[in-house]
Amino acid sequence: MGAPGASSGDPGIPVLEVTGLSVGFADATGAVVPVTADVSFSVSAGQTLSLVGESGCGKTVTASAVMRLLPHPAGRILSGSVRLGGREVTDLPLPVLYGLRGSQMAMVFQEPMTSLNPVRTALDQVMEVLRLHRAEVPARERRAAALKLLEEAEFPDPARRAASYPFQLSGGMRQRVMIAMALAGQPRLLIADEPTTALDVTVQAQILSLLKRIRAEHGMSVLYITHDMAVVSEIADEVAVMYAGQVVETGPAARLLAEPLHPYTRGLLACAPRLDSRPRTRLESIPGAVPAPAEYPASCRFADRCPLAEAACRAAPVALRPVRGRQVRCIKAGA
Ligand SMILES: Nc1ncnc2c1ncn2[C@@H]1O[C@H](COP(=O)(O)OP(=O)(O)O)[C@@H](O)[C@H]1O
Ligand code: SF4
Ligand SMILES: [Mg+2]
Repeated sequence: MGAPGASSGDPGIPVLEVTGLSVGFADATGAVVPVTADVSFSVSAGQTLSLVGESGCGKTVTASAVMRLLPHPAGRILSGSVRLGGREVTDLPLPVLYGLRGSQMAMVFQEPMTSLNPVRTALDQVMEVLRLHRAEVPARERRAAALKLLEEAEFPDPARRAASYPFQLSGGMRQRVMIAMALAGQPRLLIADEPTTALDVTVQAQILSLLKRIRAEHGMSVLYITHDMAVVSEIADEVAVMYAGQVVETGPAARLLAEPLHPYTRGLLACAPRLDSRPRTRLESIPGAVPAPAEYPASCRFADRCPLAEAACRAAPVALRPVRGRQVRCIKAGA
């Protein structure tokens, strides 16, 4: 069952290709502080790439740059390219971009309350996406189509409850409304930014399996952002690990999870107890914190927290390089 919007496109061309993307924010003095540097990854048709890293590593900033939703006027793309189905979007005029948002790429956020309109019902908001992006659905059929989308997003009893306002819904139900809105435009790419982080574990598991089902049914590609390696192991085909604004390891999920090559990837895995079947006496964690962008070191950005750090790690910037079929930003990886 392929949706027309989702199945179009040349299968040889990645649905999303991010190359050398650097994003910065202007501070109070007008000086621009880079927060991400040279971020590259690509998402193939029907695949899920998980962008994973601790809070503050630049995941949301990267996703916002892809959607061209960086806070205005402080946020800006400093360099790099974002191609959607082969088409560069970083320099597209805004009216063209508005057409692509929703119909080619849609985003589901961690806190749906910030993106839902508080004074419109759930049903109205799904119908509005249909009005904007699905001209082939006649106005008289929009209500039925919106109810069907809500049903597909496993929104409970849509015929009765879709007339509710966002504040009358639980966090899980709001997230289902966001997912129905995202589906309404039949995008080829769904960007999900920590969509389950604010939910309790039961609802989290339901939303994750819902996203897996709709991805398969619609042949969509997904950029799934999370800080949680247990979620990565559930959903990802490919992984890009981000630390302090840089990609530090990329590769196929199964291999990266089984044999993490970057010390940061190993640290993240150690923080995901559900992945580890060995009995443990304490929850391992990575000591220290992600540096603020103005304090990124010029050498390996992970050096202050890395158990393997040595003088050479602090001598110069560390580039991504191929190691065992992956890209890794560590001078010791594979040694
Ligand atoms: N509007 C903003 N102005 C200035 N800095 C920002 C802004 N938004 C995010 N940042 C900075 O960019 C870095 C990356 O943030 P973010 O992408 O939100 O991280 P993540 O999503 O990985 O938790 C952080 O250091 C954050 O402080
Ligand atoms: S380059 Fe050195 S400090 Fe950086 S991650 Fe590798 S071992 Fe650790
Ligand atoms: Mg974020």
